[in-house]
Amino acid sequence: MRLFFTPTRIIASVPIVFLVLVASQITLNYFDNERTIKTFIYKQASTLNTFMLTHRNYYINLYEEEKISLDEKSLAGLPAFSAYEISDTFSKANELDITLQTVSDKARNPQNNASAEQLRAIEFFKHNPLEKEYFVKEGDFYQYATPLLITQRCLKCHGSKSSAPDFIQKRYDTAYDYKLGELRGIVSVQVPIAT
Ligand code: HEC
Repeated sequence: MRLFFTPTRIIASVPIVFLVLVASQITLNYFDNERTIKTFIYKQASTLNTFMLTHRNYYINLYEEEKISLDEKSLAGLPAFSAYEISDTFSKANELDITLQTVSDKARNPQNNASAEQLRAIEFFKHNPLEKEYFVKEGDFYQYATPLLITQRCLKCHGSKSSAPDFIQKRYDTAYDYKLGELRGIVSVQVPIAT
């Protein structure tokens, strides 16, 4: 009778078993590492997003409660308006090259038009109205987003054009006739994986 497990065969298979073990360990480490990076990026993005929204709500309140009255001059302090400038400066200044933006598929200001990746996030929230967050890998960066939904306070300037403050009517022709609960746009955070 011929034995399959001859001593020579057993000895010859040792390096192969060893290689398989090392390769699986490397693969496991790789996925573990990917997961750690993903979790870390997610936490970074959501923290930044929370800060952005806290800041935004604080200032919208000041205008809503008329502690600051809205006119041509004070428009510069309105979060909807200042978001572009603040986000742009932040995006250029931070060391990790994180990009922060408030964008829309129907932007009042063309500077706030959503990119293809951001439009995918907007579509996601339109199809999944109960979802509060979006987090997807897009090539060499992660796209994080939260929805900006229309509440009563938004209708003052995004309801019918004729009921908007005078100088908003004069200055903007778009982004009116929104309905309560409708998706107005997103806060978008893009984190490059390399940095
Ligand atoms: C007092 C008026 C006012 C109120 C209230 C207001 N907005 Fe706006 N919103 C504006 C103006 C003006 C712009 C355009 C800013 C610019 O020129 O960059 C704008 C722009 C935006 C944008 C950026 C995209 C774009 O169209 O350029 C989003 C998103 C947005 N608003 C969401 C909201 C939401 C959500 C609320 C309620 C929580 C809200 N806004 C309340 C006046 C207002």
